[in-house]
This record gives sequence, C-alpha cells and structure tokens, in this order.
Amino acid sequence: MAANHALLPGTRRDFSALARRPPPNLFVIPSAMHPIALKRREVLRLFGAAALTASTRRLTSAEASPVAPATPPKPMLTRPIPATGEQLPVIGLGTWQTFDVDADEASRAPLSAVLREFAALGGKLLDSSPMYGRSEEVAGDLMAAHGLREKLFVATKVWINGRAAGIEQMNASLQKLRARPIDLMQVHNLVDTATHLDTLRGWKRDGLVRYLGVTHYTASGAEAVAKLIEREAVDFIQINYSVGERDAEQRLLPLARERGVAVIANRPFAGGELLRSLRAKPLPTFAAELGCTSWAQLLLKFVIAHPAMTVAIPATSKVEHLRDNVAAGTGRLPDETLRTRIAAAAVG
Ligand SMILES: NC(=O)c1ccc[n+]([C@@H]2O[C@H](COP(=O)([O-])OP(=O)(O)OC[C@H]3O[C@@H](n4cnc5c(N)ncnc54)[C@H](OP(=O)(O)O)[C@@H]3O)[C@@H](O)[C@H]2O)c1
Repeated sequence: MAANHALLPGTRRDFSALARRPPPNLFVIPSAMHPIALKRREVLRLFGAAALTASTRRLTSAEASPVAPATPPKPMLTRPIPATGEQLPVIGLGTWQTFDVDADEASRAPLSAVLREFAALGGKLLDSSPMYGRSEEVAGDLMAAHGLREKLFVATKVWINGRAAGIEQMNASLQKLRARPIDLMQVHNLVDTATHLDTLRGWKRDGLVRYLGVTHYTASGAEAVAKLIEREAVDFIQINYSVGERDAEQRLLPLARERGVAVIANRPFAGGELLRSLRAKPLPTFAAELGCTSWAQLLLKFVIAHPAMTVAIPATSKVEHLRDNVAAGTGRLPDETLRTRIAAAAVG
C-alpha cells in the first residue's frame, strides 16, 4: 500500500521553521451572520423552497449556519476539461482530514455550511478518497441532505491492490457518495495503476464513470505520473502544486498540456504550512493589482494561473476560508511576471 499524505523526507521543502513565526493574522474576512438574522426570502433563496415546509419548522443549526456573502459574488473563472471541453470552475474543494468527522450534527454542521456555500458560489469539483476515513460518507450524506449532487462534479479515488478489491472499493465509494455515475475516478498515489485503469476503461464504456485519472503528491510522484501519461490515455492527473512545491513545472505540467490532460492541483497551501508560515507577513502591495485581500488568494491565483492548470482543490472546514479561497477564482489572474513576484514574496 502506498504511503499516505505525511511528509516524506527529501520530497518537498520543509516549512516547519517558517511555521514557528508568530501568528497574528493579517487578513480580515467577514464572519458569517447569525442564522437568526436570516429573512425567510433569504433562506428560500439559499436552500430552495423545499428547505422550508409550509409550517416554517425551526431550522436546525446545520441547515441555518451558512449565509450568502454581503455582496453578490463574481462568477468563478472556468477551464475546459481537454478531453470534452466541459467547463470546470477553477477552485474546487478537497476533503482530506476536513471531512473525516463523526456523524453527530455538531461535527457535521461546519462542513454542511462549507459544502452549501461552495455550491452556492459556483464551485463544482469535490475531491475525496476511500483513504480519507469517513470523508466520502460525510460528503455523500451532506450532498443528499441538501440536494447538491447534480450541482457538483464528484471525484474520488481507488487506493488498494487487486482488480476485485478495486472494484469492491469503487462500488463502496459510489454508494457512500451516492454518485452513480461518478464524475471522476482516480487511481490514488499510483497504487496498482494498470489494473485499475483497465477496470475503469470498462466502467467508462458502461457509463459508471465519466472521466478517469491518476494522482500523486510528491516530486517523485510527478515524474512517475509524467511517465504514465506518456504511455497511457487518462483524462485527468492530480498532483501537488504550490509556490512551495513546484517540481511539476519541470516536465509534468508542460507534458499534460501537450497531451491534453486536465490537471488538478492538490496541496495548494502545502497542506496549510504555507499559510501558517505567512501569518505574520504583510501582503505585498501588488496584491491589490490582482484584487487579492489575503495570502490564500495570492497562493491560489499563483496555482490556477499556470497555463496547464485546470482546478486547484484547497481543503477547508471553515466557511470564511471557503469564501476566501473561492474569491481567488474570480477577477484578474497574474501573468508570469506577477507569478514570479508572488512566489518570491511568499517563499523567497
Ligand atoms: N495523493 C493525493 O491524491 C492527494 C494528496 C494530497 C491532497 N489531496 C487532495 O487535495 C486536497 C488539498 O490538499 P490538503 O488538504 O493536503 O492541503 P491544502 O489544501 O494545501 O491545505 C489545507 C489546509 O489549509 C487550511 N486553509 C484552507 N483555506 C484556508 C484559508 N483561506 N485561510 C487559512 N487557512 C486555510 C485548512 O484549514 P481550515 O480547515 O482551518 O481552513 C487546512 O488546514 C486534499 O484535501 C485532498 O482532497 C490528494
């Protein structure tokens, strides 16, 4: 079985020293309004008329927690999936750790809020894996509870050895996510890739999966994924990419572009380390030129402005962070000069 997402020595830069800097947070994001302040027509607009019964039952906290931003959001930028031309908004949502929570309402309410706000702001790609504990089940339950399946582009993974075990695991994922067909099935960390891609080609012909792909999250993984797309046809690759982890730029990203493969960037904040390291650092003045009000937005704009990139999938358990991240998918993107300046300001 391949390693999980823990840091492997020598595979990425170590941000732990930077992370020890003092923590004051320099960006200010509007907090969610209290649910009691919601007017009936706002609730109807947010959750759809079906969310309220004629008797106007009391909303549970899980239903009432998220609210619309004060100003109407700008539409997110989109990128085509090269295989079909289908458009995907450039900011997606990861679920590693964040969605691995208990079934009780208190644990799930923040994620319910995140998922509904993500869909309300035009987000589509939701990424999970059987490796992420209860994440698939939580995402599936919340999508079902709020009628979000049709609005989202649901991606998960297969992470096991053997054809029969792979089929069993993928069927379990489709059931947990209540997504049949599933939009994207990825071979997680290249575990038994040839076997699962063979199964998935059959699944695609049978209409059980719309797109197939492979994932990794390390520098060595980038080279292995590059070798794979030289010989195999896949619709998507998912790889780590951020200002702190740029190995994919060398060969993999140009190759993906040349081969017409969609690219999902995982770990756009290097698992959160980048943002922790930047807490005490003022935003560079050029952030205003890009309409960015936080480091998170600058880091995400750096990622999605790469010409090979299709979607970045930051994970968050907080609505205010979700809004911050989605804002990066709107407005102006940096050119190569500004991308260089972002990287220099963040990790130079
Ligand atoms: N091999 C693979 O296939 C693979 C490997 C790694 C990751 N992935 C996928 O990629 C996704 C993203 O990677 P990741 O979760 O490792 O790391 P990440 O997205 O780089 O960072 C997530 C961390 O950043 C924090 N965060 C998010 N938005 C923020 C904001 N606006 N301001 C401040 N903090 C913010 C989150 O905390 P809060 O909850 O406090 O916001 C969380 O701790 C995963 O969830 C998973 O779906 C796949």
